[in-house]
Amino acid sequence: MTRYDYVVIGSGIAGLSFALKAAEHGEVALVTKANKSESNTAYAQGGIACVTSAEDSFELHIQDTLIAGAGLCDEAVTRLIVSEGPARVRELIELGVQFDIRENEASAEDSASAELDLTKEGGHSKRRILHSRDITGREIERALISATESHPRIHILEHHMAVDLITLSKLGFASEDRVLGVYVFNESTGEVTTLRSDRVVLATGGCGKVYLYTTNPAVATGDGLAMAWRAGARIANMEFIQFHPTCLYHPEAGSFLISEAVRGEGALLVDKKGRRFMDRYDPRGELAPRDIVARAIDAEMKRTGARCMYLDITHKPAEFVRERFPNIAATCLKYGIDITTQRIPVVPAAHYQSGGVQTDVDGSTSLRGLYAIGEVACTGLHGANRLASNSLLEAVAMAHRCNAAILRSRCPDDANGRTHFPLPEWTSGEAQDLDELVVVYHNWDEIRRLMWDYVGIVRTTKRLQRAATRLRNLEREIQEFYWNFKVNTDLLELRNLCTVAALIVDSALLRQESRGLHYTLDFPEPREELRRPTILRRG
Ligand code: FAD
Ligand code: SIN
Repeated sequence: MTRYDYVVIGSGIAGLSFALKAAEHGEVALVTKANKSESNTAYAQGGIACVTSAEDSFELHIQDTLIAGAGLCDEAVTRLIVSEGPARVRELIELGVQFDIRENEASAEDSASAELDLTKEGGHSKRRILHSRDITGREIERALISATESHPRIHILEHHMAVDLITLSKLGFASEDRVLGVYVFNESTGEVTTLRSDRVVLATGGCGKVYLYTTNPAVATGDGLAMAWRAGARIANMEFIQFHPTCLYHPEAGSFLISEAVRGEGALLVDKKGRRFMDRYDPRGELAPRDIVARAIDAEMKRTGARCMYLDITHKPAEFVRERFPNIAATCLKYGIDITTQRIPVVPAAHYQSGGVQTDVDGSTSLRGLYAIGEVACTGLHGANRLASNSLLEAVAMAHRCNAAILRSRCPDDANGRTHFPLPEWTSGEAQDLDELVVVYHNWDEIRRLMWDYVGIVRTTKRLQRAATRLRNLEREIQEFYWNFKVNTDLLELRNLCTVAALIVDSALLRQESRGLHYTLDFPEPREELRRPTILRRG
């Protein structure tokens, strides 16, 4: 057992930002289940929303967020996070993040006075998104990793997967519960070790892999959410899964994202005959909030039987398109599409978890000692639908707030000495090596397909109930594997995926209205009396 002042799980923007701040005050274990740079963050394209221009204001950004959130955002939290933006962005720049600067300023001798280039995305009334061409996340991740790697108090454990939280109640103490540490699976040795800490920070990102088609990388299996659920923390708003409207439709492209910033820079959505259709769905057209655009594309595909719709930016100068979107242009070209002369075939795919582990404005969960920041958390900022590019903003703002709150409250949390006893080591008991991996893969596929077919952009109660029944059976089967076989990454992820899928379905069944990202044919309108978060807690 190794003791740390902080255990941070996840090396995306939230985990890395928090670790850097916390390491100024203590030893930090940064646990991450793949290479340290693998995260949703690394794939972020559009940018980070932040008020930096004289034509913009906090009030406008707050109103845009509240409108996109369809009446469910926590206004106080929204105000705090939006107004944190400029200070946190300044810190990122100080760490070396290179955001694009305006074309005519790029050659200015005094680069400090150059103005940031701002782009636009759906639901934003102003240009306010800072970006690094179309690879903003990769640039942020690069700068944050470089700072954490050289920090003497940050101990990075790559290819280590957090399995479960250790809590007082799991050890049989019935009184007030709290987190004591975490079990971690070391992929290289196959062993599970115990990390002890009174402060465990979940920064494990989202759960896109629960759907068959997703923009998310393989690591996004909802592990943190499932761990928090098993430990008894409150979970909120899991019915609100965001589908990104425009992913490249190509059999080999793996739902590669075509950034909303492409529409922000003027691209149009058209059908195969080149006819625009968004105006029929929303006066804001291509730049309506994401839930509306994804539903419109889905409806057009269903109405016409087409396999995809198209994004057209061919009317913009080729040089501009190639320079502004080099990654998108190169990736599409790899699949035979020259975006400067051809339309891009697009379909929606699962993208972002707007709910998560419920936290207060400082990242505290309902379980003492457990904090959640970034996509895994539900702070109340996103409500029923996240405004584009508010996720990176929320992650840096919450990392800062969480660290500051922990420092403020620093007191001998465990003054009564209860948490000083040694924690039990992980034991595999009579568990065997898993010999039939095919069963695990089969269950993975089944969950992802069933979520796509029954719990997608348009839902019905009947389909949700079917999904719930099937998931209960799968849960029992997977639980059996878990107890009988030695753990490995695939099995652990499968267990988490199944838990998260069930939480999404249960939350969706509870919300008997349509609001934001949750749209059901059985209750097609919002209902004022249901304008409240959906909260689930084990037992
Ligand atoms: P992540 O960046 O996902 O990091 C999670 C980390 O946790 C990873 O390192 C992962 O390996 C690790 N992890 C997970 N489970 C475990 C475990 N059990 N044990 C150990 N480690 C674990 N948002 C914006 O605001 N602007 C954008 O332009 C934008 N573009 C996007 C484009 C794409 C293609 C995608 C997928 C998302 C985009 N988003 C964007 C959303 C945004 O990138 C994410 O919400 C945000 O990066 C999440 O950051 P995070 O630190 O919370 O989690
Ligand atoms: C994008 O670039 O379209 C993604 C932005 C986001 O998810 O916030």
